[in-house]
Amino acid sequence: MAVRRLAPKEQQPASFAFSEENLAWAKAQIAKFPAGRQQSAVIPILWRVQEQHDGWVSEAAIRAVADLLGMAYIRVLEIATFYTMFQLAPVGKKAHVQVCGTTPCRLRGAQEIIDVCKHRIHHDPLHVSADGDFSWEEVECLGACVNAPMAMIWKDTYEDLTPESFEKVLDGFASGNPPKPGPQNGRQFAAPITGQATLINGGGKPAKNQGGTPKEPVLSDAEPKKASEVANVQERPAPKPPADDATRKGK
Ligand code: FES
Repeated sequence: MAVRRLAPKEQQPASFAFSEENLAWAKAQIAKFPAGRQQSAVIPILWRVQEQHDGWVSEAAIRAVADLLGMAYIRVLEIATFYTMFQLAPVGKKAHVQVCGTTPCRLRGAQEIIDVCKHRIHHDPLHVSADGDFSWEEVECLGACVNAPMAMIWKDTYEDLTPESFEKVLDGFASGNPPKPGPQNGRQFAAPITGQATLINGGGKPAKNQGGTPKEPVLSDAEPKKASEVANVQERPAPKPPADDATRKGK
């Protein structure tokens, strides 16, 4: 992963001002936290600032967030430079692509997705394409490993990618009509692509269909909710009271 630094001075705007709408939104977020804990709103406010500022946070924007929250500039700078969700330099106008390059995605073809970025956007990460529309970078695990390989664009994830389906995702952003986020191979969320393989046999028998269409009905919701013994009924005999303590006799 690249070292995360602020953009060079020549790319930094001189100032940042919250839009009226975003300032009101930020104040509403701050009001959700108890007095003295307003700094807890820093991440959502930085995200909103990034959305307002063409997909990246400038040094002036970081200072504006710190001033709003009464934080030291260095504290907000630490947060903006730590999380890869925050971009520190100008990015593509239509899409900034974050390709996961951590082990599960690597094993499932992340390099091929990166190769598409290299040939279609720019050879190097964190460089804007010639038309200014796209940029890309490799990031660490984005938490959708079960649907590897995957990439995040703005705040949506595109999963179960192949080079071909990823090209289609980029085509969608280029034409202003992005595809539905999530798996791009037709499966539902993280369910098996081969169909349901567990909780399908109605009780105790081993599942017969390892892949393919389920052959037996799924357990109904009522099945596991049958009334059973109350939890405090014990099968073993109640314990006897302890024998009198001989040392206490005669007292
Ligand atoms: S390893 Fe790629 S999302 Fe987790």
